[in-house]
Amino acid sequence: MRKKVSIVGAGNVGATAAHWITSKELADVVLIDIMEGVPQGKGLDLREAMPVEKRDSNVIGTNDYADTANSDIVVITAGIPRKPGMSRDDLLNTNHKIMQDVVSKVVKYSPNCIIIVVSNPLDAMAQAAYKMSGFSRNRVIGMAGVLDSARFRTFIADELKVSVENVTAFVLGGHGDTMVPLPRYSTVAGIPITELMDKETIARLVDRTRNGGAEIVKYLKTGSAYYAPSASTVEMVEAILKDKKKIMPCAVYLEGEYGVDGLFVGVPVKLGANGVEEIIQIKLTDEEQAEVNRSAAAVKELVGVIGV
Ligand code: NAI
Ligand code: 2OP
Repeated sequence: MRKKVSIVGAGNVGATAAHWITSKELADVVLIDIMEGVPQGKGLDLREAMPVEKRDSNVIGTNDYADTANSDIVVITAGIPRKPGMSRDDLLNTNHKIMQDVVSKVVKYSPNCIIIVVSNPLDAMAQAAYKMSGFSRNRVIGMAGVLDSARFRTFIADELKVSVENVTAFVLGGHGDTMVPLPRYSTVAGIPITELMDKETIARLVDRTRNGGAEIVKYLKTGSAYYAPSASTVEMVEAILKDKKKIMPCAVYLEGEYGVDGLFVGVPVKLGANGVEEIIQIKLTDEEQAEVNRSAAAVKELVGVIGV
């Protein structure tokens, strides 16, 4: 039987995630949104691309959660995106209300699914979804680290004029200005970038990574990034559906790991059929740990505001 992925929010990230999923033939897709007609139209349009793409993924668009029943994965992208001048945190209250609307319905129809949260502010929304769902912590995962790392990888590859395939990178912490790119664990063909670039260059790339979301918002003006965010989400979907046991940075609910207790923060995890199958603990320097602590404190402040 084919796998089923439902995507809540048929906007830029949601619809583009549907596109990546179907183009890789990973699953059948249900796009759901409060806007009447939009998920139906995008779903039908995408399904009509399948003969051309030679893919048998079915796609439907709907406003009815009954159509999402028994999904293997539900990706939540519902919410408002950033406009120029807005921080991710400005979205807090609006998107929290949307999350309250969405999560109970997701859980009602797909009690055994794995939830991937994309809506911002990411760590706080993931924490809200986790608390509302009542799911075990391996089944509620936030997408941010894969995207932030992909941005860092892009900038490293550009700087060194090497293939992006050669570049790995790790960005931990919350998805915000306090995110923690880890140059020591970022490599080109296995060589740490600290061996390949001077400190000033690394600092410049780290800074660009931290502001990677804002850089796109500034260009688009009416919304935020969606190609790289949706591709990053689908890398997580693929790791779960194919039980790949892939290690990637994701926001997960920490219970003491990295010295953080009771908060969603981005750390390296192993993703497989059970969702988060392991939290990988790497040794951080005092300085890196201090940055993770600062990032966790920023998440704590936000979850305090919405009381989750
Ligand atoms: P968008 O505005 O294109 O799409 C959002 C969709 O959510 C709209 O179609 C809207 O009708 C729908 N929606 C609103 N309330 C809903 C509800 N109660 N139920 C179902 N659908 C509802 O926005 P975009 O660009 O797709 O971004 C979506 C969210 O993802 C934003 O919060 C954005 O900040 C976040 N984001 C997070 C990233 C990350 O790294 N975690 C990266 C990129 C975006
Ligand atoms: C991004 O990093 C807006 O969080 C979104 O592009």
